[in-house]
Parts: sequence; structure tokens; C-alpha cells
Amino acid sequence: MPAVGIDDLAIYVPKLYIDYKDFAEARGIDPQKLEYGIGIKKMALADANQDSACMAANACLKLMQRNRLHPQDIGRMYVATESALDESKAMNSFVVGMLEQIYGEGSFEHAGGIECKFACVSGSYALYDNANWIRAEENSGKAAIVIVSDIAKYDIGSSGEYTQGAGAVAMLITKNPRLMAFDQKVASTIIKNEYDFYRPFGKETPLVNGTYSNLLYLIQVRKAFDSYKERAIKSGLIKLQDGESITDHIDFFSVHLPYRKMGEKALAYLLRHEWRHLPRWKNVIKEIGMAEPHPKDQRGTIESILADTEFMKADEKFRRAFMQTSYFNEVFEKKMASSLEASAIIGNLYTASMYMGLRSLLEFEYKKGTDLEDKRVGFGSYGSGSSAMVFSGIIQPDYKEIVKRMDLEQDIGERVKLPIEVYERLHRNEKTCSEFLARPHKEFVLVKVGGLTADKAGFREYVYVK
Ligand code: CAA
Repeated sequence: MPAVGIDDLAIYVPKLYIDYKDFAEARGIDPQKLEYGIGIKKMALADANQDSACMAANACLKLMQRNRLHPQDIGRMYVATESALDESKAMNSFVVGMLEQIYGEGSFEHAGGIECKFACVSGSYALYDNANWIRAEENSGKAAIVIVSDIAKYDIGSSGEYTQGAGAVAMLITKNPRLMAFDQKVASTIIKNEYDFYRPFGKETPLVNGTYSNLLYLIQVRKAFDSYKERAIKSGLIKLQDGESITDHIDFFSVHLPYRKMGEKALAYLLRHEWRHLPRWKNVIKEIGMAEPHPKDQRGTIESILADTEFMKADEKFRRAFMQTSYFNEVFEKKMASSLEASAIIGNLYTASMYMGLRSLLEFEYKKGTDLEDKRVGFGSYGSGSSAMVFSGIIQPDYKEIVKRMDLEQDIGERVKLPIEVYERLHRNEKTCSEFLARPHKEFVLVKVGGLTADKAGFREYVYVK
């Protein structure tokens, strides 16, 4: 089967942001908690004239212009989001509408695509489906574009408020990609009905069970990883020697990042799970200086584990100590740290957060001088509600052509720091599209929502600002 994967990716991040120190002062929180406990310094915010569709279109336009793509080169465009704008009209139709302003009316008529939803994991399903569309040669030689775009917005004063963010990533999916080819027949999923984080119809901010969602994320990704491991060994993709863990065969990790620290916790959880039966665990325990605790009811539910306060306390202590060990730190620094840089200065991007993490990994490893050719990236994608997908890909020989021009600061552009009172007005939707705070430049913006007449209700009008 031909190699299929990500040929290139482009990002769009809105210019407005709030600084963690201002935020901490306004909410009476220790700034150290935000910087180290959560891992956030700047949270990107959508302006009054921006929504998830125009961010998606902006990322897509960058991708197309940079690669000199014409709409005729594209056979499918999928948008994965949990910031939908309409219960029926898909976000990619809005995106196509915007792109037609550049490429001409009807320029995408030959193509297809849908909007995908499953909290933060849907972009991974969209990549998988489109990669298979190309592998099956249903694509008539055309490429697919998968865009992940979201605005993470939580209630003012809630513990989710410091995990907000906004942005989009557009990915070009092709045969023989320059950047990364997906490993085949190993992508593994898990799905279960859960209420860890959800947003009922008409509600702008989610209902969240924070502690439960954290643990569920860890467990679901770990279960999907178990299934990935089984498939990778069975298919011969990875051959384990005695005393080895499958994590030894993954050169980099990119996981869903609701906030930076969650990436570190996910790696710690995975390594504990993978290492505890290996000879190296004895040395880890020696360095930690305490035995790994176990819940009273080992086969219990997440609720019963969370209710076991004695275990939870001991496990937190053990987890923190494990994350201080030289064993954990070596893997973390080498295989994950670079993927977390962008999260700390942008915030949660829901569907886009893991792919912004991939972009961050590539840029900062390249800047460190790491040779990335042939390296395997393992992905841990999680969507509340809930589903996880674990898959992997190999960085291709031509990756430098793409990665050398990556520059996060330049890509975001000059940022505008908002005073907290202005952020709060924006959060309460008190500003109209014309009261934007950052001057748009070479991008699509929202100029009108709804019409003066009933037949125009729900219409969203966008323009390209030169
Ligand atoms: N200095 C340094 N660190 C400090 C500190 C201080 N003064 N005070 C507290 N901290 C640390 C805590 O020790 C803790 O660290 P550890 O995790 O290492 O123990 C960390 O700061 C967080 O503090 P809390 O445990 O008190 O947690 P919180 O009340 O701030 O809530 C949260 C954190 C649950 C993630 C909350 O922000 C939330 O509900 N977020 C939204 C839901 C979410 O993101 N869930 C993640 C999984 S679900 C998912 O991934 C889907 C999605 O995108 C939403």
C-alpha cells in the first residue's frame, strides 16, 4: 500500500491574548499555579470579528497558498470542530464560501467533505478516513485537506477558565507525503458513553467534571494504546526484545493538550503502565523511594477509584515523585517537551491542540538540531464523551523542506495583550463584529451574523481583508 500521511500543515492563531499574570491577579490565583500547575503563560482569544470557521479558512488559505494549490488539486475538505456554528450547515461549507472569494465561485464544486464532531478527537478520525480514501485510490489523484479549528471557552470564574484558547491547523493529506507517513493497520480506538465534558445544545460553555475528565482521558488513551501495542506487535511493525517497552520504539509523543501539564501527566501515566512489569521498574522504585500504591478495588470503576481518597492521595504523591525521576525526565525531555511549547503560549485548541503539538514538536526539535528522519511519532488523541485514538507516523526524508520554515512567533504575528476587563466584555459577547480589537491583515473575518429579514437569519457573512 502506498505511503499516505501529512504532506504539510499550516496554522492560524488569533492575535488577541491574555497574560497569565494579569489573569492570576484578577482571579486571586497564585501565578505559579498557572505557570507550573497548569502550564499556561498566554491564552489566545478569538476577536469580535472571528469565529471557528474563519480561523479554519485562514489556516486553509495559508496551506493552499504556500503549496501553490488550486482547488482542482483538492478532492476533499473536512473540518473537525466542537465549536459548530450551525446544527445543520457544516463548517466546511462556510470555509468553501470564504475560499471562493479568492479562487472564484464554484471553484470547489468538484470536491466533497463534512464537518466532524467528537469533542477533541474528531480531527484524528478525519485524518484516518481521508488517509484511507487516498489509500483506496478513490481520490482520482487529488489530495485531501483536514482542518481542525476550535475556540475553547469556559465560564468566567470556573476552573476551566485558565484552560481557554483559540486557533486552527490545516493539514494536507497526500500519497508519498513530504512530512509524515502514517503507520498502517495500527490505529486503535476506544469509545464509551461518558459525561466528563459536554456542551448541550444552545450552551456556549461546557459542563465539566474536571477531575473525572482528567482521569478518564488517561485511562481511555492508555486502553487505546494497549490495543495499538497489540496490533503493532502482531503486524510486525514493532518487534519487542526482552525487557523492552513499546514506548522505547516511539521516538516522540504528541498527545491531546487541554493544557500543557496534561501532556506531562499523560506521558507519566503511560510510562508507569508500560514499565511496571519490566526489570527497569525496580530502579525507578528505588529512585522514588516508595512502593506504587494500588486502589482497594483494583477492578473498580473510575468513580470508585476517585472515591478511594486514601489511594488517590498516595497515587498523587507517587505520580509527582515519578515525574521527578531521572527515568521519567530523560524520556520527557527527549520525546515530549518540544510538543508542549506552543500549548503554553496559545492554550487549549480542543480538536487542534494535538496537531498544534505536532507542529510545535517539529519546529522545536528541528531548531535543536535533531535529525528527525525516520523517527516515529506516537499520537494519543482524546475526545470527551468519550473516545480515544492512538496511532503513529514516520517522519519522511523530505521533512526539512517543510519544517525549516516553521516559526511559531512569526506565524502568529504581532500579538495584542488584552486587559482583563476587555477580555471579560469579549467573553460576554458584548462586542459586535465591527468592534474588533486587532487589525486584520490578509485574512478572513466575520462581518455580519444574521440578516435584517427572517429569510437571512443564521447567515454569516465573511470578507477577506487585504
Ligand atoms: N504553585 C504551583 N502549582 C500549583 C499551585 C501553586 N501555587 N497550586 C496548585 N498547583 C498545581 C496543583 O498541585 C495541580 O498540579 P498536579 O496536577 O501536578 O497535582 C495543578 O496546579 C492543578 O491544580 P488543581 O489540581 O487544583 O486543579 P484545578 O482545580 O485548577 O483544575 C482542571 C484543573 C481540572 C484541569 C480544570 O482546569 C478543568 O476542569 N479544566 C477543563 C477540563 C479539562 O481540561 N480536562 C482535561 C481532560 S478532558 C479533555 O482533555 C478534553 C478537553 O479538551 C476539555
